[in-house]
Amino acid sequence: MKNCKIIDFIKRGDRKLGYLVALEENRNIPFDVKRVYYTYGVESGSIRGKHAHKELEQVLICVSGNLTVRCFDGEKFEEIDLDSESTGLYIGPMIWHEMYGYDKNTVLMVLASDYYNEEDYIRDYDKFNILCQEV
Ligand code: TYD
Repeated sequence: MKNCKIIDFIKRGDRKLGYLVALEENRNIPFDVKRVYYTYGVESGSIRGKHAHKELEQVLICVSGNLTVRCFDGEKFEEIDLDSESTGLYIGPMIWHEMYGYDKNTVLMVLASDYYNEEDYIRDYDKFNILCQEV
């Protein structure tokens, strides 16, 4: 699916000492990182996201617990389980995404290519589909 891909990060360490993952802008994170945010304490039945971005690029990393991300590019759907601390999900512009299936202890960390800007959001699913057809 365009604008949506898994990034496998290198994890360093072992079972005894645990693991370390390094994130570097324009290396394993494919953009300048302007913002990092994280969500936690999401109830298992809740769905977050439900929007697309016009320009923003993001990498989602589930650093604790697990969840599922449903992505839609206007044509195809894909469901991605995020259950590894060393896996990132890149989501670029014009991908409708919804997050669900949260564990009690799930922490989702997101690296973003720009500051928070509500103007960049498309929160209306019908509008998203119309915009996809225009491209
Ligand atoms: P939203 O992006 O809708 O969260 P999610 O995609 O996880 O469901 O944001 C939820 C609220 O938080 C909304 O009122 C906007 C605000 N917000 C910020 O103030 N700064 C941020 O960096 C983000 C991502 C959201």
